Amino acid sequence: MVQVAIMGFGTVGSGAYDILIENAEGISQNCGQPINVKRILDLRQFPGHPAEALVTANFEDILNDSEITIVAEAMGGTSPVYEFTKALLMAGKSVVTSNKEMVATYGTELIELAKKHGCKYLFEASVCAAIPIIHPLTQCLAANTITEIKGILNGTTNYILTNMQKNGESFDAVLKSAQAKGYAERDPASDVEGHDTCRKIAILAWLAFGEHGKNVSWTDIPTTGITQITLADLQKADEDGCVIKLIGHAKLENNKVTCKVEPMRIPKDSPLANIDGVYNAVLVTGNFTGDVMFYGQGAGKLATGSSIVGDIMRIVRK
Ligand code: HSE
Repeated sequence: MVQVAIMGFGTVGSGAYDILIENAEGISQNCGQPINVKRILDLRQFPGHPAEALVTANFEDILNDSEITIVAEAMGGTSPVYEFTKALLMAGKSVVTSNKEMVATYGTELIELAKKHGCKYLFEASVCAAIPIIHPLTQCLAANTITEIKGILNGTTNYILTNMQKNGESFDAVLKSAQAKGYAERDPASDVEGHDTCRKIAILAWLAFGEHGKNVSWTDIPTTGITQITLADLQKADEDGCVIKLIGHAKLENNKVTCKVEPMRIPKDSPLANIDGVYNAVLVTGNFTGDVMFYGQGAGKLATGSSIVGDIMRIVRK
């Protein structure tokens, strides 16, 4: 039996927990052994929850437990997550995460640290929740030179724009609904101001463009969010045969990578125009494959939990 811990029992952490419980049998068959959640790190308590007794507010309970070999981090932010992640990796425990801020800021360093200590740092859940994009990009498409990545990479903003455009709902009302559904970040400014998309395109550019992508830093990417988009803008776009989408874009040209994040008018007959609600899509152009499109739910408890658990299983199977 493999013992794991979950750090952060909010939307994503509890989603991963629910999946590990609900599909325990299938997961065990797939991995050749059961996966058991031994501890959960959270400052809150969860009276009445079946996992209540597993919850601790003390990180050392996980770090010093030699039975725990894999930790799912779904705390968000970089402090204290950076220190926690480093300590876990240095103790030889693999870490899987949905935390794009951590991956975009410290990914290279943490992968190296994991290698050095014979464990893994995996982050499929950090970009576009349910969509498998990290492993396909770095493995299935590895024979290609990737020249361009373009997509709708944030569920919250796509949900907002879709509901404003199709139903005439106000920005504030739809944002509240996105928060209630567990799509938005703890601070939804990261979503609506484009920073979440910016971190995701930085991660994809880093992974896709080899040596050229190594120095892409999310803090340097020109980023515009959707806070200035009005119902009138969406209506005008509609009259002109377009929709407005928040697009993350990365391109390799003359050995140079350029990235940007901005709301764009997309003609209604373009594949990206029909990606609605919380769904995301990523269009990857390879020199041998041409365009490859990935589509699925870009946010949400179980959609993100699924990728977290997939990474845990990947580690267990190896
Ligand atoms: N807030 C993010 C989004 C969560 O809406 O896409 C998934 O990364």
